[in-house]
Amino acid sequence: MREVWYLRFVLFFILSLFLVCPVWAKEPVKKAKTVDELIKMFDSSSCKQCHPKEYEEWSKSIHAKSLIGTPRTLGSMAGTIESLWKEFPHSGVKSVQDITADHLMFCMKCHAPQVKYAEPSAARELAELILKAAQQDEAAWKKVEQVNINCLICHQEVAIVHKWLDGEVDRKAVYGKKEGAHMDAKYKTLKKSPIMGQAVFCGQCHGTGPNFEFPQPSQCTTTYGSYLHAYIPSGGAKTCQDCHMREDGIGHLMPAYRDKRMIKKALDYSVEATGYYYLHKPGDLRPTARIVVKMKGKAGHRMPDG
Ligand code: HEC
Ligand code: HEC
Ligand code: HEC
Ligand code: HEC
Ligand code: HEC
Repeated sequence: MREVWYLRFVLFFILSLFLVCPVWAKEPVKKAKTVDELIKMFDSSSCKQCHPKEYEEWSKSIHAKSLIGTPRTLGSMAGTIESLWKEFPHSGVKSVQDITADHLMFCMKCHAPQVKYAEPSAARELAELILKAAQQDEAAWKKVEQVNINCLICHQEVAIVHKWLDGEVDRKAVYGKKEGAHMDAKYKTLKKSPIMGQAVFCGQCHGTGPNFEFPQPSQCTTTYGSYLHAYIPSGGAKTCQDCHMREDGIGHLMPAYRDKRMIKKALDYSVEATGYYYLHKPGDLRPTARIVVKMKGKAGHRMPDG
């Protein structure tokens, strides 16, 4: 009897070891109960100290306010949240109180992918803040602005696309183009993201077409689709990073047509004009011109996008 008890104890001890320290299980991301917790989970403020150039450029980019935009995005986000109860009878949302992260992902997938780690309480709070910010509430605006596409979203959260090949993201690492030690107090390793320098990295959020994976599919931008189906087949060889980061030292500002350097790169055009007089009827000589405009888009996708 005593031995059986002893064996049971040993077995229990061994099993509990696995329960306490799951050797194989990847550390799950703890979900955020409040918007402040969500912001803290992806806090990138430590990066500023050692990467001031990247930080400065990024903070002026539209990625740094990806729920606010120009600020057309904010209005459209607020409208979409209201449409959950105003336009979609089967969304399960009767008021803002019913909102969970699942109701927001058809926008947040690209505008703030970290929202998938929001508990219902945090998702509801974010929805309420977006509605208030759209009504010009300054405090709400400032908080919504902090839920954005920052250093850790790109250099960790979305740094790996092919997870069966490359594995899950390591939450203690920062992903770049090489492996090694990293000086950040929290993210002490540098890992290589195989896609960081490729178009597919940006393509994750820059759209191929409708997002059919959601119960209510959405379609926003389709730049990556256009890049794949028009630019590449017609001989284009550059990546998004070439045109939007590397050339002209543009870096993390990653601008589009709001930047003069991008406008200059957008089009090849020529104008030929010949002026002459056209005798419509006797006594009615009209000044006329023949103008030939040739325009060729040089961007890596259609313009404008939408
Ligand atoms: C205490 C200084 C320090 C802090 C803080 C820091 N870094 Fe770094 N980081 C470095 C140094 C130094 C390197 C260059 C390492 C090398 O070249 O071996 C580096 C390299 C990198 C690279 C790789 C660049 C490449 O060539 O691929 C990335 C990406 C990066 N850091 C992102 C971040 C992010 C994101 C944060 C904030 C979470 C951060 N760093 C915080 C010092 C720091
Ligand atoms: C996690 C998703 C995500 C990733 C990854 C991403 N973007 Fe974006 N990007 C966005 C969103 C969302 C916006 C639009 C924000 C808005 O207007 O509200 C945007 C906007 C832009 C714009 C418009 C800027 C402007 O000033 O009008 C450019 C250009 C751009 N991204 C380039 C890139 C490039 C190049 C990459 C890859 C190196 C990239 N993005 C990676 C989500 C992403
Ligand atoms: C597949 C990723 C993706 C999804 C899903 C997505 N967006 Fe976007 N959205 C983007 C990117 C990237 C841009 C910037 C593209 C550009 O400037 O061409 C953008 C741009 C916008 C703009 C234009 C901003 C401006 O100033 O012109 C609005 C508004 C917008 N999104 C709202 C939404 C809403 C609302 C939803 C959900 C119904 C949504 N988006 C879903 C990726 C996405
Ligand atoms: C929208 C995605 C995105 C965001 C946000 C972003 N990065 Fe990057 N970062 C990239 C990409 C892509 C590259 C690789 C560029 C290339 O291949 O030329 C890169 C490169 C780097 C490098 C290597 C040096 C270089 O310029 O090639 C460092 C360091 C870095 N990022 C730090 C940061 C820091 C710090 C932040 C936040 C302030 C940040 N990044 C935000 C996408 C991003
Ligand atoms: C050959 C160079 C080139 C490549 C490759 C390229 N772009 Fe662009 N892109 C441009 C130029 C130039 C503009 C500015 C066009 C303008 O003035 O409207 C632009 C505009 C944009 C805009 C703003 C579009 C709008 O109408 O709001 C986004 C977003 C964007 N690019 C993202 C990307 C992404 C993501 C990729 C890769 C899938 C990419 N670009 C590849 C040159 C390029």
